[in-house]
Amino acid sequence: MLRSTKFPAYVLSLCLLWVGSAHSQGPSQPASGMTTHDRIQAAGWWPTRRDASRKEFVGSARCADCHSDIYARQAQTSMAKAGNPGSSTAGLQSRPTLSARQGQYMYEISNTGSGSQYRVWSGQDQLAGPLNWIFGAGDIGQTYILERGGNFLESHVSYYPALHGLDLTPGQMAGPPKNLKQAVGHPMEEEDTRLCFGCHTTGSMITDRFDPNQATPGVTCEACHGPGAKHVAAAQANQVDRAVKAILNPGRLKPADQVDYCGACHRSSADVASFPAGTLGLLGVRFQPYRLQKSKCWRKGGGITCLSCHDPHQQIVRDATAYDKYCLTCHQASQAEAKSAVAKAPACPVNSVNCVSCHMKKYDIWAAHATFTDHYIRIVRAGEKYPE
Ligand code: HEC
Ligand code: HEC
Ligand code: HEC
Ligand code: HEC
Ligand code: HEC
Ligand code: HEC
Ligand code: HEC
Repeated sequence: MLRSTKFPAYVLSLCLLWVGSAHSQGPSQPASGMTTHDRIQAAGWWPTRRDASRKEFVGSARCADCHSDIYARQAQTSMAKAGNPGSSTAGLQSRPTLSARQGQYMYEISNTGSGSQYRVWSGQDQLAGPLNWIFGAGDIGQTYILERGGNFLESHVSYYPALHGLDLTPGQMAGPPKNLKQAVGHPMEEEDTRLCFGCHTTGSMITDRFDPNQATPGVTCEACHGPGAKHVAAAQANQVDRAVKAILNPGRLKPADQVDYCGACHRSSADVASFPAGTLGLLGVRFQPYRLQKSKCWRKGGGITCLSCHDPHQQIVRDATAYDKYCLTCHQASQAEAKSAVAKAPACPVNSVNCVSCHMKKYDIWAAHATFTDHYIRIVRAGEKYPE
């Protein structure tokens, strides 16, 4: 295993942690909230559930027949683009060739028009072949997956827009590769592969069997709402009540369940609590549910969920001031307002705009060559240590 324990946890792949959540039972499960592992055993749809049959899925194009506006917006999101087949040009379109050197090994990824080719060589020795999957929408990074005779390999190098090029895949840093085969990529364990496709594609697990070649790339309608055949049939028959009962609308879930719901892929607080102690560190900043639920706004305010600030059908809003109006649904805009609005939370003594720029600090994760937003809303003190 390249993912040895020789390196501190924060340089290890997030994927190692993905696996941890499915298996280990932690000592400190939060009172409310459940692990995703437990959620998908319970009745009803939950994202990453594995037991639906192929005929229950209809595909997003069918949803578009009646929900065309949502369909058009959702297709633009990073989530919809989180997994791409290597045969598509989606991933590499704007960059026909990428190359890099890691020690004695040379890498080249090229777009041939009919798909992406991956080539690794050292002197006279070379291994080359098609890339089967490109994971990640590409705003933060992309990792490649190669399939060879039913075995899956995670590429040794990934693409990072911040570098305009390739660098090591997080988690594959335990020393230089010993041979060409290792230089190509890291062999993925079966469960690792299933989890990977479970969060980045739709319908890769059918009646508990892994069938990635039939999966729909990316996080699409049915990954979140569940398979839609019954819903569509009822809607077509004008049986609206039956149609509504046959599909999950997460908007109807209680706040804590809503946070767990997004946490099926973003990691629920209970998932995070089940990781082995001391493995998380700053990497935890990427698991928004447990960060948010540490905030006083969550604990004392209540009702604040991922949906309060994000529309999952729409590309993320990058303008920090756009979030102000939501903070101000609870917080007074000024001290002066304090006396009139009894039920409200206190006003900021420092500023009345751009709240998230100070209270949701951004952290660099160097292994991912990107910055992530801390969802632990708080007063950030100068020089403070990252609060785990
Ligand atoms: C033949 C038309 C039709 C198709 C196709 C269709 N829907 Fe619907 N959908 C409806 C109707 C009608 C409703 C109920 C009224 C409303 O909310 O507009 C509805 C409501 C919903 C709701 C909200 C349910 C609630 O509890 O309020 C969701 C979620 C949903 N649809 C998702 C989907 C998804 C996902 C697909 C594709 C798998 C899909 N729909 C395909 C007609 C359709
Ligand atoms: C089936 C898995 C899955 C579920 C469920 C899910 N997400 Fe995601 N989400 C992803 C993946 C994978 C990405 C990474 C996309 C990328 O960059 O490749 C992502 C990225 C995002 C982003 C970043 C978008 C960007 O442009 O950088 C936001 C915001 C987000 N998700 C919000 C949510 C919210 C809110 C929910 C719950 C309503 C949710 N997600 C549920 C898998 C999921
Ligand atoms: C439990 C769900 C889950 C699993 C399993 C998972 N991912 Fe992700 N992945 C996500 C989410 C959610 C994001 C977005 C994180 C964010 O923006 O904070 C993401 C982001 C990414 C990105 C974008 C770059 C980055 O660092 O954000 C890549 C590439 C990626 N994942 C590859 C993989 C690969 C390869 C595997 C399997 C070996 C895998 N993921 C397993 C949920 C998952
Ligand atoms: C990342 C998860 C996710 C994906 C992917 C997703 N949805 Fe949703 N959808 C939600 C959530 C969460 C809500 C509840 C929103 C709320 O109440 O604020 C919702 C609500 C809805 C509703 C009912 C409320 C409304 O906004 O009209 C419909 C209809 C719907 N989605 C259809 C779709 C269709 C069609 C697709 C695919 C094009 C899709 N969704 C993809 C998570 C998702
Ligand atoms: C109080 C508002 C708020 C809530 C609630 C919230 N977010 Fe965010 N989220 C933000 C802001 C602000 C950003 C940064 C946007 C930017 O500047 O790019 C962000 C960024 C993200 C990103 C992109 C990666 C990153 O770290 O920058 C993901 C993924 C995400 N949020 C997921 C979630 C999930 C999942 C939940 C629920 C647990 C959630 N968010 C709840 C405000 C919120
Ligand atoms: C659902 C209501 C609600 C929302 C929305 C909300 N908060 Fe809060 N927030 C609270 C409550 C309640 C407290 C605790 C006040 C107290 O301790 O008396 C709090 C506390 C705080 C604190 C003080 C934290 C500390 O450690 O002392 C800050 C800073 C803060 N909120 C900022 C924000 C920002 C920024 C936003 C928007 C991104 C926001 N809040 C959204 C309810 C909310
Ligand atoms: C320039 C950075 C900055 C911006 C922008 C900012 N704050 Fe603050 N905020 C602070 C600092 C620093 C403190 C701590 C002040 C102290 O304790 O002396 C604080 C304190 C707070 C508190 C705690 C007040 C109390 O009495 O306990 C809340 C709540 C809060 N801010 C909410 C907000 C909201 C809502 C916004 C947007 C309308 C906002 N902040 C914008 C820096 C900022």
